Amino acid sequence: MKALEIRQKYLEFFKERGHVIIPSASLVPENDPSVLFTTAGMHPLVPFLLGEKHPAGNRLTSVQKCIRTGDIDEVGDATHLTFFEMLGNFSFGPISSDDPKDFGNEGYFKRSAMHWGYEFIKDELGVAPERISVTFFKGENGVPRDEEAHRIWTEEIGLPADKVIEGNFEDNFWGPTGSEGPCGPTAEIYVDGIEVWNLVFNEYYRHKDGKLTPLENPGVDTGAGFERILATLNGYKSVYETD
Ligand code: SER
Repeated sequence: MKALEIRQKYLEFFKERGHVIIPSASLVPENDPSVLFTTAGMHPLVPFLLGEKHPAGNRLTSVQKCIRTGDIDEVGDATHLTFFEMLGNFSFGPISSDDPKDFGNEGYFKRSAMHWGYEFIKDELGVAPERISVTFFKGENGVPRDEEAHRIWTEEIGLPADKVIEGNFEDNFWGPTGSEGPCGPTAEIYVDGIEVWNLVFNEYYRHKDGKLTPLENPGVDTGAGFERILATLNGYKSVYETD
């Protein structure tokens, strides 16, 4: 599968599920003086994760161009790039239902995000289940273990116990993008041992002093590494071989 086809498939999959497709924002953030570049699909959407109304609604999807320098020492290996594209789906606002069969346009949370993520990788991209493993947050630094994510992976989606791995704060808690902002526990999807998708459940606001307070409306921010997906699907050894 080529780049164009995967971008299209991703956006269509989430459009069908009530998301509005938005264009990639500028690589230079418009409203965040704490960073130089747009580092994630959610970056331009921070105000909406914090309660501002987005004119396109509560479910959005995008392919966002990103520049990341935080992992610069790893750039040049098989999976890290400075510039890359991130496939993302986002939910804001009150959660009307968190049912993956709800293709409406109201806010959703981790059940829908996890079911859709797994379904997209397995059914839309056709990745064999044996190649897929997942993670959830084990609880650390005063943030509780994500029992719900564990239950969804194992009981609802039916993944075997050895494919569901717990992760610590460093690996399974994401954000904020700058010195403060929305953040939360994550669940990740791996293919052939490579992390391809990060599902972030934004439940907290991290203040400058490091303190976490709950957000009024939890939101969803997911980001799939486009070049990694392309490489794994096509059997390339590295993201530098993609089209
Ligand atoms: N914000 C998360 C990340 O960049 C998911 O999009 O990994």
